[in-house]
Amino acid sequence: MKIDERLDAATAQVLRGAMGGDAPAQLAQALHYAVTPGGARIRPTILLSVALACGDDRPRLSDAAAVALELIHCASLVHDDLPCFDDADQRRGKATVHRAFSEPLAVLTGDSLIVLAFDVLAAAAGKDADRALQMIRVLSRRTGMPDGICAGQGWESESQVNLSAYHGAKTGALFIAATQMGALAAGQDAEPWEELGARIGEAFQVADDLRDALYDAETLGKPAGQDAAHGRPNAVTSLGVQGAIRRLKDILGGAIASIPSCPGEAMLAEMVRRYAERMTPVAPVLQRADVRR
Ligand code: IPE
Ligand code: IPE
Ligand code: MG
Ligand code: MG
Repeated sequence: MKIDERLDAATAQVLRGAMGGDAPAQLAQALHYAVTPGGARIRPTILLSVALACGDDRPRLSDAAAVALELIHCASLVHDDLPCFDDADQRRGKATVHRAFSEPLAVLTGDSLIVLAFDVLAAAAGKDADRALQMIRVLSRRTGMPDGICAGQGWESESQVNLSAYHGAKTGALFIAATQMGALAAGQDAEPWEELGARIGEAFQVADDLRDALYDAETLGKPAGQDAAHGRPNAVTSLGVQGAIRRLKDILGGAIASIPSCPGEAMLAEMVRRYAERMTPVAPVLQRADVRR
């Protein structure tokens, strides 16, 4: 089965479980709405690619890990869009959860998805309790404090921002979780996989800054120009468009060099190259006079 099909099947199964029984109908619908059809699913795709590169001897566990990671990501977006954070109306080309349902339901959707993520991992443990436990620890570290996505969002309330801690926690954390959980699901050590995740996360953040600065809301499927609007630090503000693109290429070169040796090393290098192409803004945007600097 292809990675996309694995993700679709595993996600659908988890959602069916969470929406069943005596669940309140609107909250159940909101969970489904927040997770499907989903976005680029880059984090679970990286996770499954690393698991495959390491042999993927427990595919059920890898699938659970991939779904758990994407649930945390979706939860973070639902909360991030709330009026008390970014107050966004659109996400993935549709109304944000609090606009489509309500603010209380959006808070509860995020909370429920976070709890569900850890339940999915615990439930998949079976005979591999040690692997599952390590994955739970990685995911909780990269979700909470002091250096998970909660910390990342927390930096936005500080008067002085440590940019690398902010980006590392807000964006890098879940990419580290992706590479480390992929390795753990396949029975490998997590530690050698941290650098690859951190570098892909850093590249992703620069690419996201470029997209935020260069694209319109329709192309993005979410509000554009948000970093400037909220006065947030951004790679384009500090390096210029061309400087940010050079930085992106440098980081991805480093990412390829950091891939730990494993049977699927060449396949992973190819995956990073593909992401590099996808992350770099397309030519017509780069021809615009305002970005040719
Ligand atoms: C957006 O992440 C949030 C950031 C961390 C910048 P993605 O661009 O991966 O969002 P989706 O899942 O594809 O919508
Ligand atoms: C969202 O970050 C990332 C997290 C919630 C961790 P941003 O606010 O920068 O991203 P978008 O533009 O809403 O996707
Ligand atoms: Mg935000
Ligand atoms: Mg936002």
